Order: sequence, then C-alpha cells, then structure tokens
Amino acid sequence: MAQRRHPAGPGQRPGSARRERPGEDVVANIAVVPAWLKPPADVNELLPQLWARTVGRDEAGALHVGGVGVADLAATYGTPLYVVDELDFRARAVAFRDAFADAFADLCGGADVYYASKAFLATGVARWIAEDGLHLDTTTGGELELGLRGGVLPGRIALHGNNKSRREIATALEVGVGRIVVDSLQEIDLVADLARERGIVAPVMLRVTVGVEAHTHQYIATAHDDQKFGLSLGSGQAEAAVAKVLARPELRLLGLHSHIGSQIFDMGGFEVSARRLLELHRKVERDHGVELPEIDLGGGYGVAYTSEDEPLAPTEIAGRLADIVARECLVQGIAVPRVSVEPGRAIAAPSTFTLYEVGTTKDVELDGGTRRRYVSVDGGMSDNIRTALYDADYSATIASRASAATGVLSRVVGKHCESGDVVVRDEFLPADAGAGDLLAVPGTGAYCRSMASNYNQVPRPAVVAVRDGSSKLLVRRETPEDLLALDAG
Ligand code: LLP
Repeated sequence: MAQRRHPAGPGQRPGSARRERPGEDVVANIAVVPAWLKPPADVNELLPQLWARTVGRDEAGALHVGGVGVADLAATYGTPLYVVDELDFRARAVAFRDAFADAFADLCGGADVYYASKAFLATGVARWIAEDGLHLDTTTGGELELGLRGGVLPGRIALHGNNKSRREIATALEVGVGRIVVDSLQEIDLVADLARERGIVAPVMLRVTVGVEAHTHQYIATAHDDQKFGLSLGSGQAEAAVAKVLARPELRLLGLHSHIGSQIFDMGGFEVSARRLLELHRKVERDHGVELPEIDLGGGYGVAYTSEDEPLAPTEIAGRLADIVARECLVQGIAVPRVSVEPGRAIAAPSTFTLYEVGTTKDVELDGGTRRRYVSVDGGMSDNIRTALYDADYSATIASRASAATGVLSRVVGKHCESGDVVVRDEFLPADAGAGDLLAVPGTGAYCRSMASNYNQVPRPAVVAVRDGSSKLLVRRETPEDLLALDAG
C-alpha cells in the first residue's frame, strides 16, 4: 500500500516539506505530477468513491445530484455553493448506526454512533441526525444549540472541549446532556461545582490520551502527550483524574474516552487505542470497585479525496472494533461496556461537493518543460482552507458539460490575495475549460463550511441540500450587508 500522508499535512512535521515527499515525479526538484495522479482516459469520468451516490451526468454531460442539475443550482443559489446530497449523507449516517448496532449487538446490546458535528452542522443536519436515530457530538455551546434546535434529545448529546466555558458547561447541565467529556483536571472541579449549584449529578466521561499518535497510515505507539487534549495515560494523570471524579458525589463517571486523530485508514491505531483504554477501564473497575458502563472509542475514519484513497466500510470498521473489544474484555475478565464512536468526516465529507464558476486561466511553464494551468474559481481558501492548512489533496471536474478535450495538468486556485490560495493542487482538467464553466470539487462536506472564513471580506457560501428533484437551503449565503453589519463604523 502506498505510504499515506499525515492527516494534518507534512508541514506539521518538522523538517518535512511537500516537495520532498517520496513517490512523486520530481523534475529539477519540483514535484510536477504526484505519482498517484494518472492522466485520465476520460476527463468526464466520475470516480464512484469520490462522489455522493446520486451524482451523475445527464445526456449533455452536465452534473446532476438528487435529481437537480448543477446549472439550476447555480442559477438559484449562486456560486460558490456547497451542495449536499441528503440521501448520501443520511445513508452514511445510517450505515454507521447499523454497522455498529449489529457488530456490538451480542457483545453489549449494540453501540451508539455520535455524529461529530464539528465536521458540519446546521439545524437541518441535526434534524436528520435526530430522525435517523444517531447521537450528536458537540464541542461548543454553538454546536450544542444547533443540535437542540434540530431536535436531538439532550440525553443523546455529548459535550466535548478542552477549554469549555462556565456558560457552556452550565447550559449543558441545565438542558441535561447525556455526557460531558471532561478534558482536564481543573474541569473536574468546575463541572462538579456547577452541578452542585444546580442540585444535579453530572454524567461525565474522561478523555484519555492513550499515547497513540495516528499518522493516517502509520501510527507511532509512543507516549505522545505533547498536545493539548486529554488526560495522559502514560503520566498517570488519567488515573488521578478518575480518583478525583469518583471523590465528587456530584459526578457520575460513565467511562473513558479516546480519540486518536482524523483521516485515518489503518485500523491498527484504533486497535492499540481501544486495548489501552480497556486496560485502564479494567484497572479503574478493579482498583475502585466501580463499574464503568460505557467506553467511547472516538472517530477519525478516513474518506476518499483522490483516486488513491481507499476508505474502510463502516461494517469493516465496526467489525474490527467489535473483535478487539470482545477479545480484550475476555482476556481481562470484564463485562463489555456499552461502546460509542464519533465519526464526523466519514459521514459528512463524501456527501457534498463545492460548485464554483471558473473565471480566469493562465498557463505556466515549469522547469523541465512541463506546463501547469492555473484555473481560478470564484471562491478559494475562504471556503476550503484544508488545502492550504493541511496540504490536503482534492479532485475536481468540469460540472456544466462534458468535454471532448484532453486533460491538462491544472491547479484550481481561488480569488484571494495570496498565492497559497489553492483549492485543488493537482488535477487533469479538460484543455478547453475556461470562463463560465462550472467546476465541482467533491468531498467537501466536512471541515470546509465549518472552517470557512471571511478572508478578503468574502461572504461565506450557502449550503443547499438536494433530494428527489428538489433543493432546500441548509445555510443561506452571507451577503455583503451581513459583513458590513458587523463593522462598528
Ligand atoms: N471526536 C473527537 C473528540 C474529535 O476531536 C474529532 C475530530 C472527532 C470525533 C471527529 O473526527 P472525524 O471522524 O471527523 O475525523 N479540521 C481537521 C479535522 C479536525 C478534527 C478534530 N477532531 C480537518 O479538516 O482535517
């Protein structure tokens, strides 16, 4: 299997630069075409793993999704536009729900899937989550508020965060969330004090840093505590936190939680993490004579952004986790706790593409005689920061028509005043692509709208859900007036 990149991008690792990545064709020390990007036989082809399930091309070659053509969507809502295939999003959510329910049915009566709402949340999405019987993972008061507005029952909501405010914790207690995932020693007292003031007992889990550093394909099983989240297992801090929670009658310890990273394809890291968490679980039960009814194994399952990515199916993920949990509980002689997981990206990302309109283009001759075409679109790093921030790769296709032209090596760039404003670093787009064409970038349902900005005073795009031949807004487009309204004058 090809070496995979760090989910946070090679720039996150000291001494590593993208151009020095092994496996790329290097001409005069410039990575021209990444090894994984093959010139397509047909520039109009839609690779199934990259696109939401109802996406296709009509007779004229224009893209449609949920029975609605992209030209109609662009005319109605404008571009850039995030287009969510509702059936795809919900089918993925339900696939996780059912895969985990089935895999853990005999072990612990099923497992709970918390959709990690940081990937993307709107009231409409929370409503799907509620209707489809999932739980919701929130990280701030804002996400919690949207979840409640969408009708997710408070008891099915988790509140995370390494620096929750008093207000956020108080709200979570008052609405009665199902769990507050405590992230630090200080927060134990804070949650307990706020619960006591309200005369309630707070259900809490403890976020444990288990020492597995997930590198997407690689993982380094080391005591990696040098990051901001959680209570470290290796230093004994997690055990100290357990004792501290158990000493506070205003807290009910549901169990332990671990999340090792994001965009991970290798189950090995999850397995090591689950094993370490269960070892601590058993030690807590034995040392303190308590029973912990739950355990949360986090999220982080990888999705396809390019032809090289091969995501695992929910049934495979659930099956592998069920095997490890069953084996560890047997070895350690403990009852199997109720398991929960928190996928975000794997539910949201593939359901959505971003629709842009192409403007200017320019050809650049590179060292070695290769050419690269810069294709500018009407959005950019304000609607997809992942390429610039994590060195993430994406794919793109011309969406408004089919083309008979050959593919030319292209870079899709935005309209922002910065040369790092890249949306898709490398793609073969048809040679006749140009101004007025619609261009679609798949896999943008997670961490694109939710991390969008107003850089250069650009209003953030709308998000629209399509299904069964009709479309509806999930989030409206910001207007220049919205931005001006924030300006104190
Ligand atoms: N649970 C916890 C506690 C998390 O911190 C996260 C993600 C998840 C679940 C969901 O992970 P997922 O299944 O979506 O990979 N902005 C970055 C990703 C940050 C993920 C933060 N935590 C990106 O765009 O790649």
